[in-house]
Amino acid sequence: MANPQSSLSAEKIAISHRVSRISVSATQAVVMEAAKLRAQGANLVDFGAGEPDFFTPDNIKEAAIRAIRENYSKYTPAAGTMELRKAIVERHAADFGSSYVPAEVIATAGGKQAIFNLICSLVNPGDDVILPVPYWVTFCDCINYAGGHPVMLETREAENFALTAEMVQAALTPRTRLVIVNSPSNPSGAVVPPKEMERILEVTASHGAMLLSDECYCYYLYEQSPYSVGSLPDAKDHLILVGSLSKTYAMTGWRLGFAMAPAPLVSAMLKLQSHSTSNPTSIVQQAGIEALAGPQDSVQQMLQEYRRRREFVVEKLREIPDVSCTLPQGAFYAYPNVSSFLNPQTGSGGKANLAASVNELGGKLLREEGVVVVPGEAFGTREHFRLSYATSMANLEEGLTRLKSFFAKQGD
Ligand SMILES: Cc1ncc(COP(=O)(O)O)c(C=O)c1O
Repeated sequence: MANPQSSLSAEKIAISHRVSRISVSATQAVVMEAAKLRAQGANLVDFGAGEPDFFTPDNIKEAAIRAIRENYSKYTPAAGTMELRKAIVERHAADFGSSYVPAEVIATAGGKQAIFNLICSLVNPGDDVILPVPYWVTFCDCINYAGGHPVMLETREAENFALTAEMVQAALTPRTRLVIVNSPSNPSGAVVPPKEMERILEVTASHGAMLLSDECYCYYLYEQSPYSVGSLPDAKDHLILVGSLSKTYAMTGWRLGFAMAPAPLVSAMLKLQSHSTSNPTSIVQQAGIEALAGPQDSVQQMLQEYRRRREFVVEKLREIPDVSCTLPQGAFYAYPNVSSFLNPQTGSGGKANLAASVNELGGKLLREEGVVVVPGEAFGTREHFRLSYATSMANLEEGLTRLKSFFAKQGD
């Protein structure tokens, strides 16, 4: 039988310039590669997935089941129901003391859609967007899609990847349209302290630019209480907050996030959303109301468990000769430096038989030990792996044992 799939190439079909400028998310690529190996029977330990291993709490699941029974099956306003938008602003006000109103909120299909809609609504071709490195890969692709110019702001590992207002100030130019801050950071777990975040907003605003604060991991902080720059009384005019229920309530597959921003910007994002996906799924919105307005104990329980895992992972990584790792202050990722195993060698005291890149080293690790990690190239650095510790202690123990034996063999 003939192959039913057309053999037409991307060049022949002339994919648009906009889409040609971006790539499939590198983290998705790792997920696909691991799925292929798993289908062939490989016994993998997966540190790649950036999602909680916990199940969605029962009260949220029950709310969704109720919503189906009660026929929440129709379109809603594209920005989400008034009830959901109220629940979003009320949760944020209760936790951080902010004062947003529903007209300043748009509910989206995950935080990703909020970021995409925001960047497309704000950034014109040629505009500069300041992006601290290491960065979450989607920011970069959204900027490229919009025709903007990502201005990479290198942070220093020796300073725990700290981002300061002075660094932002030095990178701001009249062309800067947007500054992106993701605290706690995916992939490094670095956290911007509240006072520094205030100063970053101040310098950004004084240049007439906007600050996008991605708060998707804001409840997972190990050294301080959750904080939002949106709690400042005069913050709103130059600030966009992006949030997500994905990590906070272990709801990655449900796809519910939001942005809070000045009303005209929310209207622009809404225009775009009204012509693409329209409202987030009606049933998920009902579940989201329960997540935001119902009991919050599950968040604390997950935080305690992530804290225990963070300690274990960092300790075990630091025991591996020639591997170093900063202590993540938030989120659920470790970002070890493996430069001693790369050629040309940038670390000291390394070995001779080395991989050419962290990508190559990650591929070797996958094939030889069945351990899935995301190479740092996806996040703008060339010497790191990202390990998600949102996985069971049993997996962490097995994976760290495999990692130790893998690195012991490199350069033998
Ligand atoms: C930094 C950051 N922001 C936003 C998101 C978006 O998550 P979602 O679209 O599931 O809400 C993610 C997901 O991995 C993330 O890591």
